[in-house]
Amino acid sequence: MDPKQIRMSSPDISQAEIDSVMEVLRSSDLSMGEKIRAFEEEIARISGTQYAVGVSSGTAGLHLSVIVAGIGAGDLVVTTPFSFIASSNCLLYEGAVPIFVDVEDQTGNLDWLLVNEAVEALKSGGKAAENFLPRSLQKSKKGIGAVRAILAVNVFLQTADFDQLIDIAHRHNITIIEDACETIGAGYKGRLAGSLGDIGVMAFYPNKQMTTGEGGVITTNNQAWAEVARSLRNQGRKPGGAWLEHDRLGYNYRLDEMSAAVGLAQAKRLPELLEKRRRVAFWYEERLRDLELVRLPHIASYTTAVSWFVYVIRILPPAQRDAIIGKLAQTGIPSKKYFSPIHLQSFYKERFGYQPGDFPVTERLGDESLALPFSGVMTEDQVDTVCFALRKALE
Ligand SMILES: Cc1ncc(COP(=O)(O)O)c(C=O)c1O
Repeated sequence: MDPKQIRMSSPDISQAEIDSVMEVLRSSDLSMGEKIRAFEEEIARISGTQYAVGVSSGTAGLHLSVIVAGIGAGDLVVTTPFSFIASSNCLLYEGAVPIFVDVEDQTGNLDWLLVNEAVEALKSGGKAAENFLPRSLQKSKKGIGAVRAILAVNVFLQTADFDQLIDIAHRHNITIIEDACETIGAGYKGRLAGSLGDIGVMAFYPNKQMTTGEGGVITTNNQAWAEVARSLRNQGRKPGGAWLEHDRLGYNYRLDEMSAAVGLAQAKRLPELLEKRRRVAFWYEERLRDLELVRLPHIASYTTAVSWFVYVIRILPPAQRDAIIGKLAQTGIPSKKYFSPIHLQSFYKERFGYQPGDFPVTERLGDESLALPFSGVMTEDQVDTVCFALRKALE
């Protein structure tokens, strides 16, 4: 087996996706046609929500969710530093302030006890609130904004512990945004990812469980919010209004018909796509579970359906994750650190004054986490090759 054939991720495209795109290309509707409507219906069904609004990326979906939830300049949103940067950037787009709290060691999902502490402290203000503010705002003369929302990210394969977060949000009358970009099809206590907050977002980049090329979807049961999101993705055009009538500041965040066509065919195959990924995750687990310096992904007791996005293990000291990446690369096998903590990205450090040590669990996960090559089209042979090389690298 030539390790060069092993890719970090690969989409799983069948004839159904090709036929679906060809149908669009043979029609004259390349945008805002039948495919996006059918795709949205399918995603609403998969996420158990009444409404789904297709957009051009997960990031666009997050941005619009922040706007429809009424989050604006100076508002505080409690969220996680252990995520892909988009979940926090979407707040900055609107001038809101991400209030990071640390995550649970086992899952990498938000630690709800810390979320609770942060929301209570920010509500009560004063010294208690200062502990949760970024350094650059601690001495702010302008005073701090109100805490408006929790933005929870479902990490790698499963959702955050939403009942706890919902309880906090209800007690304090704030919104929950669910970044479900990594967890289409995951189950939380029998409920579906995408339906757990007031509004959710899925993403479909080609490394995801299912893809549209580029693309995303907003999911919600809030009809008014869904309508506003539809308007915002389409230059703020009035719902049902004429072509050049705009009644709000909007964007071009539309999902084109070719992308929606791929997504529709993929969504119909989702059970098969998830099952193939489950099988690859199982092959990894079988081969790696005896390694003392490796910690395998943890499945929380509240998770009723796993949706494998990435296969991320932890390389435990004294082994060094970065050295392992180097040794795997020498044999031609790709692997990646995942995630790099958001608060330690250079512009977050400059803008908010974050420093190493601020979120120790996130930073430890950032140092130890290693994403192995993973997709539903990986063969058992390829998994063998990766695991053999990993064993050698750990020796
Ligand atoms: C947690 C999370 N949020 C947001 C995004 C952004 O999605 P997109 O790349 O489609 O903009 C991603 C995608 O990788 C993600 O993993």
